[in-house]
Amino acid sequence: MEEYALGALAEPLCHWYEKNKRSMPWRDEPEPYHVWLSEIMLQQTRIEAVKGYYERFLKRLPTVEDLAEVGEGELLKLWEGLGYYNRARNLQKTAKILVENYGGNLPAKYDLLMELPGIGSYTAGAIASIAYGVPAPAVDGNVLRVLMRVLDCRDDITKIRVRKKMERSVMKIIPADKPGDFNQALMELGEMVCIPNGEPACGQCPLSSLCRARARGCQMELPVRPEKKARRIEKMTVLICERDGRFGIIKRPEQGLLAGMWGFPALEGHRTLPQIREFLGERGIKDVPVSRMESGKHIFSHVEWHMRGYRIGLPQQCSDVAEHIVWADRESLTEEYAIPVAYHSFLRQLSG
Ligand code: ADE
Repeated sequence: MEEYALGALAEPLCHWYEKNKRSMPWRDEPEPYHVWLSEIMLQQTRIEAVKGYYERFLKRLPTVEDLAEVGEGELLKLWEGLGYYNRARNLQKTAKILVENYGGNLPAKYDLLMELPGIGSYTAGAIASIAYGVPAPAVDGNVLRVLMRVLDCRDDITKIRVRKKMERSVMKIIPADKPGDFNQALMELGEMVCIPNGEPACGQCPLSSLCRARARGCQMELPVRPEKKARRIEKMTVLICERDGRFGIIKRPEQGLLAGMWGFPALEGHRTLPQIREFLGERGIKDVPVSRMESGKHIFSHVEWHMRGYRIGLPQQCSDVAEHIVWADRESLTEEYAIPVAYHSFLRQLSG
C-alpha cells in the first residue's frame, strides 16, 4: 500500500509548539504515571475539564501502588462525572499488573505498553514518547485531522487500516531528539488551530504553506468519515423509591452501558401513573404516594436515554421494588456512591 508522504513538517511544527504550547500539569514533569493518567482522562474529555479531576486523583492516589490498592467504590467516585467508567477500571487493572510484573513502573516499550488493559496504540505512543523519549507515533483524531488536511487526503479516518498507515508514516518523521514534543505539537495544533468544528485558523498555522487542503480551499471538507448512524433511543421509566428518608439504588449489570455502576431501578418504556400503580400492586404495595418527576435525558455515544421518573413513597417494612436494592440517604447518594451523570437530573430533584 502506498504510504502517506508527510515530508518536512516536523521542523516548523516543533518550532511553533515551543512558542505556543499551553501549560499543563503533566507537561512540566512528565512522570510516566502522570502522563498515562492524563492521556486516559483526555481520551473523551476536554483539557480544561480534566485538570481538576487529575489533581484530585493524584492527591488521593499519588502512586501506581495506591491506584492498585484503592477500593472500586472510591475509584469510581474519583472518576464520577468523567464518564466512560471502564477507563477507570482498566487503569486499576493495569496498575495491578504493573505492581505485580514491573515493580510498579510503566514499561517504556511501545509493544509492552500495548499489552496493558486500556492502552491502545495512541496511548502507548503517547506514554512511550512523552514519558520516555521513545520515538513512537501517537495518532488520535486531532492528529488525523491535521495530517489528512495537510495531505488533502480523502481516506476514511474511521478505518483502522488508514490509522495504521498514518502511524507508519508519522514514525518516519519523528525527530529522534524530541518525540514527545513532536507528538504533542501535532495534538496541540489539532486542538488549537486546525480545529474540528468550525473554520481552522490557517492564518496562524505553521504548516499552512505545506497544506494541500488549504491550497485548494477544501479544509472544511476534511477529514472524511462515513455518515454517523443515528443514535438509538431507549425509553425508560426510573423509579425513585423513598423509604424512611433513604432512597433505593441498585447495581447495574456487569455488562452493557454503565456496567456495574449504581443507579435507580428502572422499567423499560415510558409507563403511565396507573401502570406504575399496577406494577406496585403486583408486589403487594398499595395506597402509597406516587408522583411524576421532571423527565430526564442523557446522551451516550450510541444511545440516548429518555427517562420518565416517578417518586414513590414506600412504607417502612417494604423493599420489594427491585432485587438487591440498597437504601442510601440523600447525602451518601452523592458522597459515597458514584451515581453516573445520566441520573443526576433525578438526584437534583431530591435536593431541598
Ligand atoms: N490531548 C491528549 N493528550 C494531549 C497532550 N499530551 N497534549 C496536547 N493535547 C493532548
